[in-house]
Amino acid sequence: MRKKVTIVGAGNVGATAAHWIAAKELADVVLIDVIEGVPQGKALDLSQAMPIEKRDCSIVGTNDYADTANSDIVVITAGIARKPGMSRDDLLNTNFKIMSEVVEKVVKASPNTILIIVSNPLDAMAQTAFKKAGLPRERVIGMAGVLDSARFRTFIAEELKVSVENVTAFVLGGHGDTMVPLSRYSTMAGIPITELIEPTRLKELETRTANGGAEIVKHLKTGSAYYAPSAAAVEMVEAILKDKKKILPCAAYLQGEYGISGLYVGVPCKLGAKGLEQIIEIKLTAEEQTALNKSAEAVRELCTVIGVA
Ligand code: LMR
Repeated sequence: MRKKVTIVGAGNVGATAAHWIAAKELADVVLIDVIEGVPQGKALDLSQAMPIEKRDCSIVGTNDYADTANSDIVVITAGIARKPGMSRDDLLNTNFKIMSEVVEKVVKASPNTILIIVSNPLDAMAQTAFKKAGLPRERVIGMAGVLDSARFRTFIAEELKVSVENVTAFVLGGHGDTMVPLSRYSTMAGIPITELIEPTRLKELETRTANGGAEIVKHLKTGSAYYAPSAAAVEMVEAILKDKKKILPCAAYLQGEYGISGLYVGVPCKLGAKGLEQIIEIKLTAEEQTALNKSAEAVRELCTVIGVA
């Protein structure tokens, strides 16, 4: 039997995530949204691309959570996106309400599922989902580190004029202005990029990474990025469905790791069939730890506002 992945939210991120899953033939997909007709139309359209792409996936659009029952993974993209001049934090109250309602319905229909949270502000929404779902932390994981590190990898590969495949990069912390790109642990074909790119240029690439979402919002004007965010979520889906034991930077509920407790923050995670299978603790310099603590505090402040700290 094929695996089943539900995507909540049939907007740009959700629909594009469905596209990546189907294109990779990872699972059957249920696309659900409150807006009538949109998930149905997009799912039908995507399913009609399957003969051309030679992929066997069922793709169903719906407004009814009964259709999502027994999903192996549920990717939550529901919520509003920011517009130019807004920060992700400006979405907090609206998306908190949406996330709370969605999680309750999702877990009722699929009590054994693994949740991947994509809505913003990412870490606070992951914390909301965790608190509302009542699932173990292994089964509620936030997306954004994969996205942020993919942005950093793109900029490094362009700078060094090498394949993106040769570049690995780590970004820690919350998915916000205070995120912590870790150049020291980023490499080109195993060579630390700190030996290849001079410090001031590296700082510019780090800053561009931290502002990566805003740069796209500024171009689009009507919304935010969706190709890379959805691809990032689907890399996590694939790691779990295929039990790959893949190390990816994700938002995880920390219980003392990195000296942080009771909070979702981006850290290196091992993803496999059980979801979050391990948090990898790497040694940080005092400066990096301070930056991570600052980022965690920014997440905690948001969580306090919505009562999930
Ligand atoms: C991103 O980083 O692209 C997303 O978090 C969307 C946004 O608002 O920037």
